[in-house]
Amino acid sequence: MRLRTLMLVLVAALTQSSCLMMIPGLLAGHTMGGGMGMMGGMGKGMNHSQTAPAPYDKMLNPVPHSAAAVAQGAQIFQAQCATCHGPKGQGDGPAGLRLSPRPANLSEVVKSAHAKDGHLMWVISEGGRMPGSAMPPFKGTLKEEERWRLVHYLRTL
Ligand code: HEC
Repeated sequence: MRLRTLMLVLVAALTQSSCLMMIPGLLAGHTMGGGMGMMGGMGKGMNHSQTAPAPYDKMLNPVPHSAAAVAQGAQIFQAQCATCHGPKGQGDGPAGLRLSPRPANLSEVVKSAHAKDGHLMWVISEGGRMPGSAMPPFKGTLKEEERWRLVHYLRTL
């Protein structure tokens, strides 16, 4: 068990350092390749307005809004999300304090224009919006209907 953890840490460290070593090469390549390459290479890590891909982008919450749906969403939230996002979704959960990027303040996210049903479903299902996000994907652990109930709950934050 111990040995396995150590090896995982080593592998993570190695992967990270080889990534870092690749950055100058990538940058040089993109600069020589012209503007488009540069945007493509840099954009991914820094694009904060990354949006849901198909088929998520067209999805609308199929679960009718009800007090029961919201209550079940709240329950799932406390069990699965509050540790990072905080009990009220303000991005201040104990497990989230040292993460970079930090867990989003969900009461702000749901008020923003990009927080459509399909966007929230995508983030929950696939694990975050940003590359390198510590948020795990929930499509394997929560049923689709449970994820939609969560979406109803998020809108109450
Ligand atoms: C291990 C910590 C962690 C857990 C657990 C977690 N998240 Fe996140 N979440 C993050 C981080 C970090 C971000 C910010 C980076 C990103 O957007 O990928 C984030 C971002 C988000 C966003 C913002 C997307 C946007 O448009 O900005 C939503 C919505 C969200 N999480 C919902 C949830 C829900 C719902 C759950 C529970 C099912 C959950 N998260 C569980 C870490 C977590």
